[in-house]
Amino acid sequence: MKVQIVRGSYETARGDLLAVALPENRLSAPLRKLDRRLGRLLSAAIRRKEIAGKPGDTLYLSAPDLPVKHVLFVGIGKPEDLTLDRVRQAAGRAARAARDRGLTRVSTDIADLKVKETSPAEIVQAVAEGFHLSTYRFEKYKSKSKNGKPPLDLVTLLFSKTPPRGLAGAAERGRTISRAVLWARDLISHPSSDMTPRDMAAQARSMARRRGKVAVRVLGRDALRRLKMGGILGVGRGSDEPPCLIVAEYRGRKGKPVALVGKTVTFDTGGISIKPSAGMDQMKDDMSGGAAVLATIQAAADLRLPVRLIGILPAVENMPSGKAYKPGDVLKTMSGRTIEVLNTDAEGRLILADALHYAATLKPDLIVDVATLTGACSVAVGNRAIAMMGTSREAMDALKEAGDRTGERVWELPLWEEYEDLIKSDIADCKNIGDRSAGTIVGGIFLKPFAGKVPWVHLDIASTAWTEKDLPYIPKGSAGIAVRLLLSFLEKRLGRR
Ligand code: BES
Ligand code: ZN
Ligand code: ZN
Repeated sequence: MKVQIVRGSYETARGDLLAVALPENRLSAPLRKLDRRLGRLLSAAIRRKEIAGKPGDTLYLSAPDLPVKHVLFVGIGKPEDLTLDRVRQAAGRAARAARDRGLTRVSTDIADLKVKETSPAEIVQAVAEGFHLSTYRFEKYKSKSKNGKPPLDLVTLLFSKTPPRGLAGAAERGRTISRAVLWARDLISHPSSDMTPRDMAAQARSMARRRGKVAVRVLGRDALRRLKMGGILGVGRGSDEPPCLIVAEYRGRKGKPVALVGKTVTFDTGGISIKPSAGMDQMKDDMSGGAAVLATIQAAADLRLPVRLIGILPAVENMPSGKAYKPGDVLKTMSGRTIEVLNTDAEGRLILADALHYAATLKPDLIVDVATLTGACSVAVGNRAIAMMGTSREAMDALKEAGDRTGERVWELPLWEEYEDLIKSDIADCKNIGDRSAGTIVGGIFLKPFAGKVPWVHLDIASTAWTEKDLPYIPKGSAGIAVRLLLSFLEKRLGRR
């Protein structure tokens, strides 16, 4: 899909489909003119309340009198309430409407919208993301493409005045970032039997091979033993697939790194504390944190961000077997801290304990971990937010801002020390579950000591990694969540936006 930037009007627009941003309650002069060209079908539809211009509203019309033969109106709400993510969503809806009708060349004025405190370049990038992300399909395992609809070919972004310079670059950035997100979605969508810890390591290696400045090291069982990583080894014991720790470093500059830690449980059966079979298939997405970290590194390298990143992925398959770790076992982690395992399904925190401590030994400026950690996350914040906890006010405030811009919104939960009582063990330094209360917070409370003194943020993506229904630019399935969030956060830190 090629994206081009041109100065032009509705009347001169080319392609198969013209996607027009429709604000709520008010038709501008160019929209009224377009309405007349369409035989006033738009104003008639508004009168009949078929469309009001609210976000999510769409109206499709055929347009025999225009050079484009099809017009789609996409509601964007009140112009004064417009956000960057609403723009991205409108672009996503336009792209999907075109694809579903087999129309491959789209012209749109969506990128010509104004959003407060937002540059035209950011808007163009968001529109490009909306187009690339919404039309994703994972068809590797289909012997024939299901709907046979061709992919979009050309997107023309229309500007009423001469567009500022640099917008082609912004569209290209949107493409680079989207490519990384789609890679993360692909990794997550694979059946777990084809995306084992070893497969994840191979994916990381092949990403690095095709890029300068990215180096990957994989620590296998022997190295994990030498480092005394009892958490990763313990969880990995039940599976015939050996566990590993994948370390991917991007060196965009010298100096202290930012460490990104991603939970990479390639399949979570729950282990001996086995999960119910209904819905267990979805636990192939329990490596979404690791996928997000690898994809962030890929995009940072492609964008040549002047930053040093170390991605750390503890990769295991959580299985019950005669060799598996059991409830009541005590694991000794790399930090020396011992954990009484009262539920083998709370495995993410056990592997993250080692990975966070390992990250801390590298003395980074900041550690951010990304993990599908707790089912309770959907109870706490639902599927519209990532739950965030941590020890760095500065980083959490910046992530909040990046979340609002990218639409990958975060919501903070507290890590008050009173919660620490919930994981006191009778026989070890802590236990891996609390009572039924505050499940997501308990996950954060458990992880906190393993980051040591390094400023740290924990992102629980359990409720956002997978979507049960189509969202404006995330088709049903794996979301590739947190990649754009982390990139936007890093760019802001570097003063790049
Ligand atoms: N991978 C799951 C969390 C999860 C559940 C993610 C549902 C997405 C959807 C995690 O390893 C887990 O099983 N957590 C347990 C923790 C509990 C035993 C304290 C949970 O949430 O039930
Ligand atoms: Zn689990
Ligand atoms: Zn899990």
